[in-house]
Amino acid sequence: MQIIVAEHAGFCFGVKNAVRLLEDLIKKGGKTYTLGPIVHNQQVVKKMENLGVKAVDVDDISEGNLVIRTHGVPPDVIERARARGLNVIDATCPFVKKVQKLAQDLSSKGYTVVIIGDPNHPEVKGIKGWCPGEAVVIENEEDARAFFTDKRVGVVVQTTQTEENVKRIMDILKEKLDLAVFHNTRCNATQQRQEAAKKVAELVNVMLVVGGKNSSNTKKLVQVCQNVGARVYHIETAEEIKQEWFQEVEKVGITAGASTPDWIIKEVITKMEEISKEMENQQREVAYDDE
Ligand code: F3S
Repeated sequence: MQIIVAEHAGFCFGVKNAVRLLEDLIKKGGKTYTLGPIVHNQQVVKKMENLGVKAVDVDDISEGNLVIRTHGVPPDVIERARARGLNVIDATCPFVKKVQKLAQDLSSKGYTVVIIGDPNHPEVKGIKGWCPGEAVVIENEEDARAFFTDKRVGVVVQTTQTEENVKRIMDILKEKLDLAVFHNTRCNATQQRQEAAKKVAELVNVMLVVGGKNSSNTKKLVQVCQNVGARVYHIETAEEIKQEWFQEVEKVGITAGASTPDWIIKEVITKMEEISKEMENQQREVAYDDE
């Protein structure tokens, strides 16, 4: 069985930066907290917990370092944290900051801001919070069909969206709105990971997508691979892999979300190499029996 790993997989630059920042604070000592889980990956969060870092809400604490994660937050949350005397360390990804700034500018100029994204995701809630005026979240084609305004509209995009979803929504909005500005703010890392995952998924029978079940960018990788017809398993760790998934499978692809650390990807590759060897041995035994 051939194992193909996507060219771009795992920790993106924003997540690497946030984790490094957190590790530096841990080394320095003192109480360190993150505003919500640092990334949408249980294993990384557990590792940080073991080092003494707790995920909290602003109102839970009154001293120490509070790290704002890559998804960012509305400005009032930072103000509230500072007012409580917390040392705020902002690890918002620069790509997310850019979206916040664009949304804020559009909103300040009187545009209705449309955010293409998941309304329940912290990044989207954060972006919305930067708009002083009206901001509407559109997640899918159904939302796009239901939405109308006669005001001028400026559009921004959640960084982890797929190109296909953005295009489908924009095609509907273009037909009926006064779309003055469109900023396609999908981030670089998202584009690279989705394109690399698609390339591999087109070559293989089975695709393993490694990452948090609650990770938006990982779930988007699953969609991208399913869209090209691969059988996809979304796993968080190597322990979840089952040998029976690979009966009569010649090629397996592996990719991982932007919040999946290297050590988990390596464990998955090692497990797949073991399974591949085991299956080859079994086939050899069957061949001997037949002779
Ligand atoms: Fe930033 Fe994109 Fe990663 S927005 S946190 S580089 S997925």
